[in-house]
Amino acid sequence: MKAIEIKPDIYWVGAIDWAVRDFHGYVTPNGTTYNNYLILDSEITLVDTVKHDFTEVGIGNIRELIEPSRIKNIVINHIENDHLAALDRVMELAPDATIHITERGKKGMERFFDTSRWNIRVVKTGDELNTGKYTLQFIETPMLHWPDSMMTYVKGAKLLISQDAFGQHLASTARFDDDFVDCSSHTALENSVVDYYANILMPFGALIKSKIAQIEKLGIEIDMIAPDHGVIWRRDPQKVLRMYLDMANGKAALRVAVIYDTMWHSTEQMTLPIMQGIMDEGVGCKVIKLRATPMSVAITEFWMSRGCLVGSPTLNNEVFPSVAEFITHLRGLRPKDRIAGAFGSYGWGGGAVKWLYNEFQSMKLESVEPGIQVQYRPSKEDEKNCYDFGREFARRVKEYHKNYD
Ligand code: FEO
Repeated sequence: MKAIEIKPDIYWVGAIDWAVRDFHGYVTPNGTTYNNYLILDSEITLVDTVKHDFTEVGIGNIRELIEPSRIKNIVINHIENDHLAALDRVMELAPDATIHITERGKKGMERFFDTSRWNIRVVKTGDELNTGKYTLQFIETPMLHWPDSMMTYVKGAKLLISQDAFGQHLASTARFDDDFVDCSSHTALENSVVDYYANILMPFGALIKSKIAQIEKLGIEIDMIAPDHGVIWRRDPQKVLRMYLDMANGKAALRVAVIYDTMWHSTEQMTLPIMQGIMDEGVGCKVIKLRATPMSVAITEFWMSRGCLVGSPTLNNEVFPSVAEFITHLRGLRPKDRIAGAFGSYGWGGGAVKWLYNEFQSMKLESVEPGIQVQYRPSKEDEKNCYDFGREFARRVKEYHKNYD
């Protein structure tokens, strides 16, 4: 992929990673891109770098346009490795460049590189960098999604370079949303936004709302949003802002995700009558077996559904390991606005269902007590009880969902 002009004299110079399938544990069946941008102004300015493996690709894209030694400024919006890792190589080629970075970004960057010979300017919200015809304005966004994070607004171009926010893990030849062609519709693009939000940004809904409000208060006009992953929002940048606000406000489908694992199929057998009960109550249902599903897919299914039932057998008085792993991921993402319940089978002592209920409580999720347990193997009566449990849970989900109408 070559450099692409996205605004007058502003170029995408990033890299497309078609092959990545595991992004620090986040499964990425659609690959990703590492976007960075070169502003060819009186002072040539590079915004972000690329992942280490793509250093020479990124530099090759810059070389198509200018000699890298002519770079006067480098803006580092975010110090995670997929955006910072090529910086030492860029600084070898442009040793006189000034790096513009937040205070926390600087401290983090010093842990990755020997920065003693580098020119570094610490910036905060409202600080500017005039590069000639363009002026860059910095907007700190701490914990969206790292402490160092910030965005860069290019005045004159009305361009918000938003680092990870508004991105997608989506490798494509399209650089813009209106270039993106899916076999059926743009649903894959929207799904990529939801998937990214669920696995990376779920804990930060309140921050997202306040930062979008802050950007609106600044009175800046945005007709393009250029994130660090995926396509650039050109046709309707407000659309991704609306999607983010909806998700931050707890939007989900009236649906139940039944997420489970099983040892000898007893817990699995329970899912069928439970699912039937949910469906007979007029609520959608998706069943996900954990060992057959990437963890990030299970997280996204959880996020898209108003209700979640988690099923686990009891093993050695404990919850099943793959279910514990799912709960660990979920707990870290601090889910809200969802209702949860538990079910499972056991041989003698039991414990998994209680453990799950306690986990939902500690996550402060609305939860249904006590869940349902079956010893050894579901009998016909147990199956009837599972059906009733699914139906009752679906009723609770419908009632809870009214809070979000
Ligand atoms: Fe794309 Fe937080 O790195």
